[in-house]
Amino acid sequence: MSEFAYKHLFRDGLPAVPPPPPVEPRIVMDSGHNAPELIPSADLAAAAQRVILREGPSLARYFIGPLAFGHEGLRHVLAGMVRDSRGIDVGIGNILVTSGSGQAIDLVDWLFIKPGDVVLVEEFAYQGAMNRMRREGARLLPVAMDGSGMRIDALERQLERLAADGIRPKFLYTVPTVQNPTGTVLPLDRRKALLDLARRHHLPIVEDDCYADVFWGEKAPPALYALSPSQVIYLSTLSKSFAPAVRLGYIIADPAVLDQAVQMKRDAGTPALDQMIVAEYLSTSYRGHIAQVRERLHHKMKVMAEAVRREFGVSAEFSEPDGGIFLWLKLPDTVDGKSFFAAAAREAITYNTGQEWSVEPQNGRSHIRLCFALSSEDEIREGVARLAQLCFEANGVPARRDNLSRTSEAAR
Ligand SMILES: Cc1ncc(COP(=O)(O)O)c(C=O)c1O
Repeated sequence: MSEFAYKHLFRDGLPAVPPPPPVEPRIVMDSGHNAPELIPSADLAAAAQRVILREGPSLARYFIGPLAFGHEGLRHVLAGMVRDSRGIDVGIGNILVTSGSGQAIDLVDWLFIKPGDVVLVEEFAYQGAMNRMRREGARLLPVAMDGSGMRIDALERQLERLAADGIRPKFLYTVPTVQNPTGTVLPLDRRKALLDLARRHHLPIVEDDCYADVFWGEKAPPALYALSPSQVIYLSTLSKSFAPAVRLGYIIADPAVLDQAVQMKRDAGTPALDQMIVAEYLSTSYRGHIAQVRERLHHKMKVMAEAVRREFGVSAEFSEPDGGIFLWLKLPDTVDGKSFFAAAAREAITYNTGQEWSVEPQNGRSHIRLCFALSSEDEIREGVARLAQLCFEANGVPARRDNLSRTSEAAR
């Protein structure tokens, strides 16, 4: 028991501390975790031994000065990866390694946002990015989407409305490739139209390409950065293609942006040992590893999609995404996605409610987001079945499972 009352001394506006879950979650379908079976532990251990014996003495130095941009070996690996998969042709001078792409988002926010600035965002968007931008005082305005991602006509109308009021948005934050949470992929013609429109309105684009490596469709369109480097600040991460706990993300941008960003990075460099080990592993194994990741996550997505169709039937609308780790479900308008959240938590099952993934919370009310990466196939089936039953108990839908009427558990 603490003798000192710290809480009243905390400064205003700090993020709320969430209450602990009623029971330790067992089937985790919230957040963006990865698949444990895809972590190459033995190869990683061998890579760690090799690289520490070879480069260990370099750990004697702080990663300050030019080294704060990140381990050179890792930046070479990243340059190769984005050339291969995203059509981005840059040298390591255009790459800044960050502690996850969460830190990359922070750095961009700190560079550009002052309180009251407008930032444009897809109408459904990554909660972590919205929270960060709002913490800096940004006013987020939504851009309408459809099944192919952001609607460029909606963006144009939004820009014209703002221009009429004399407002120039600071930037557009977008996840064009396997969008979080919707899973949409912006087609090439829309990418070109977006860049054209942004050019005419002098609107910088922050492209978050978090999920682009985890893509199993025909071929992902090139990154916006690849199509027009000078208009785009590109953020990505190894969290989804490799492992979130290594906390390695990166920014690709004009060196003027990176030089300033690195001054705002207050950690004296992202941990070097992690960078060295991951670079050693990925330099020889990236292609094989990412092929396995795509195949496995695609399979788990199919398992979850099948479970949702069986358990929710017509009560859940969704599209099978071409990549990523989430299904974004639209439940009937009468259903609040929060209405069975507490009951699920009591059964040690977690998921995300749509309101937190929507710029206007009300618009996400009847959505939920489910992550299929972390859980086993049996857990996915069990978790989706329990959510459907709990949704039925709270809302009367889904009324059927397979072709049979559901009954309330209380009535049995
Ligand atoms: C769109 C998007 N961007 C960024 C992140 C942050 O990833 P990390 O900080 O692990 O690199 C996430 C995590 O889920 C995400 O979904």
